[in-house]
Amino acid sequence: MTKKNRWRLMVLLFISLFVGACAPAEQAVKKNPEKTVVAANDETVKIGFSMDTLKEERWLKDQALFKEAVEALGAEVEIVAANGDDALQITQAETLIQQGIDLLVIVPHNAEATAAIVHKAHSAGIKVIAYDRLIKNASIDLYVSFDNERVGELQAEAILELVPKGNYVYIGGATTDNNVHLIKKGVFNVLQPAIDQGDIKVVYDQWTEDWSPEKAFLNMTEALAANNNQIDAVIAANDATAGGVIQALAAQGLAGKIPVAGQDAELAAVQRIVGGTQTMTVYKPIQILTEQVASLAVRMAKGDTITTARAVNNGKVDVPSILLAPIPVTIDNLQDTVIKDGFHTQSDVYGQAAK
Ligand code: GAL
Repeated sequence: MTKKNRWRLMVLLFISLFVGACAPAEQAVKKNPEKTVVAANDETVKIGFSMDTLKEERWLKDQALFKEAVEALGAEVEIVAANGDDALQITQAETLIQQGIDLLVIVPHNAEATAAIVHKAHSAGIKVIAYDRLIKNASIDLYVSFDNERVGELQAEAILELVPKGNYVYIGGATTDNNVHLIKKGVFNVLQPAIDQGDIKVVYDQWTEDWSPEKAFLNMTEALAANNNQIDAVIAANDATAGGVIQALAAQGLAGKIPVAGQDAELAAVQRIVGGTQTMTVYKPIQILTEQVASLAVRMAKGDTITTARAVNNGKVDVPSILLAPIPVTIDNLQDTVIKDGFHTQSDVYGQAAK
């Protein structure tokens, strides 16, 4: 082979390697469950999924749909859940790393404490994707979630339209979860002008440890007592806490009389919307999140470098990020959103009368 041809071959080889490795994030891995997808070591790609909890309804969907999505790509997945226990989440992740996973996906319980897991994974040459919740102060490789600030804005827009003047209560989520700060920022992006004008007053504003409905019930009971039941609207960070809020309102004969916002489109919340005790929720199509993360995880495990249009700073690095669009849901678009997507069935939502 002439020197010239040898050079031409080298250049061609280089181009094909470079183009293959740096394809943009949206280029999905072809679904081929028949064929297993192999990592650099020729073994079937194995993804580890470390979840905070399965307590809220949505996480059961994340667990099932992520498993389905990874396996549909011909890869394997090992899923563990830490029941809100930081030490257990770290131990479980260590075990996944020792089991030889090719990539680790994490839903952190505690945004700060989980940084330790990232260091361990990277020391073992394993990349890390933060799923739905950001991990703080660690060099994570990718962050994929819904736009949580937009979640808060959608909640506040829906309630402000119904209650342009009056006393508001804000029931936030668990401060260990970075999402709660983004959601709250979104809520006040929308409410602040009305607050500054003196049209609305936030008379109670409290976080809810571990997103507990019981704690949300106690907070809302306290808010009602402290304001002589003079409350005109409530924004709760998710449907689980909104459920606790509505129980407290019901105890004062106010359920259905005061607009309440939630998030997650839980079945009980959608039934409450049909029954009139909850005003809206924010639907996040989990199917899209799981399919995107599964595709990206498998590609990264195979050595691909992912480029994204956005980055989010987590206190240490600008993390390449993908933020999906959340969808506001009221009684008016229930059919065209959660029912149409099969997130809930017609009979589940309308079958039983909402409490
Ligand atoms: C958040 C998540 C919400 C909510 C909550 C409680 O991080 O984005 O969907 O359910 O956790 O687990």
